[in-house]
Amino acid sequence: MLKTDKVQDEKSLKDEIKQLKVQKNAIILAHFYQNSEIQDIADYIGDSLALAQWAKETDAAIILLAGVYFMGETAKILSPQKKVLVPDTNAGCSLADSCPALKFEKFVKKHKNHLVVTYVNTTAAVKALSDIVVTSTNATKIIKSIPKNQPVIFGPDKNLGNYINGLTGRDMLLWDGACHVHEKFSLEKILALKKQYPNAKLLAHPECKRPILMISDFIGSTSSLLNYSQTTKTKQFIVATESGILHEMQKKSPHKTFIPAPPIDSTCGCNDCEYMKLNTLEKIYLALRDENPEVQIDDQLRINALKPIERMLELSK
Ligand code: 13P
Repeated sequence: MLKTDKVQDEKSLKDEIKQLKVQKNAIILAHFYQNSEIQDIADYIGDSLALAQWAKETDAAIILLAGVYFMGETAKILSPQKKVLVPDTNAGCSLADSCPALKFEKFVKKHKNHLVVTYVNTTAAVKALSDIVVTSTNATKIIKSIPKNQPVIFGPDKNLGNYINGLTGRDMLLWDGACHVHEKFSLEKILALKKQYPNAKLLAHPECKRPILMISDFIGSTSSLLNYSQTTKTKQFIVATESGILHEMQKKSPHKTFIPAPPIDSTCGCNDCEYMKLNTLEKIYLALRDENPEVQIDDQLRINALKPIERMLELSK
């Protein structure tokens, strides 16, 4: 296909999506890790917490969640009366997969006196076993609000759990899970980049391994990293999180330079989540046109999973 055809195709797809949104009273919520063309047609782009908050508050009849499946599930749990669509049901999450509900239930039952705090990157079934859900934006604040003598289970991300243990002086019991994207940043390649760009600041998501966090200048959720890149005077950044965030960073600060932190196993400089990148404009168009695939959750499971999410939203205020 000629390049001009592709551009034309993208433009007409975007026009069709816009029309469908108006016609069906639909909105598109997109995570920062989505491809740039998806971010550009979204009504809201945000981190996991913001996506949940918007899903709860919107008046739209249809929510199309461009992210990974647990994000669509969270939207449905919060807004059961709305139709929640996802572009591709195969867009899973390695962190959520690292915590199967049956195994987690056994773990929770073994430690009955523990409060169960889980990261939002989990299935509805794991949320239903939890007392409080957190995202990387509010995790530290919420953990700090729990009395120190209360034992806590934290799952599934051991890197985020270790990071919060270090910040709060707690000794939370950690589930052994991790995000396959954040785990594969190369310390050596990042150190080489730091040498090459001595004035650049290293920004890292707390899902990264400890050695990366130890050499970082700023650690935070995607929205915190974005905010920091805008407000600090620094002009160059090495960014250790999924590379989709660079699109919004560059848009917000066009005069600054953003360098993606490289993974261990690739000659490409970027670290992409292949699940996030399964979503395309075409799939979004088809999902809106056909109102399918739709996220469905059993009602009792939804009610059980809602409680810890609502607790999070309350504690995030
Ligand atoms: P935040 O959206 O909370 O920054 O977390 C990123 C993530 O893990 C998405 O899977």
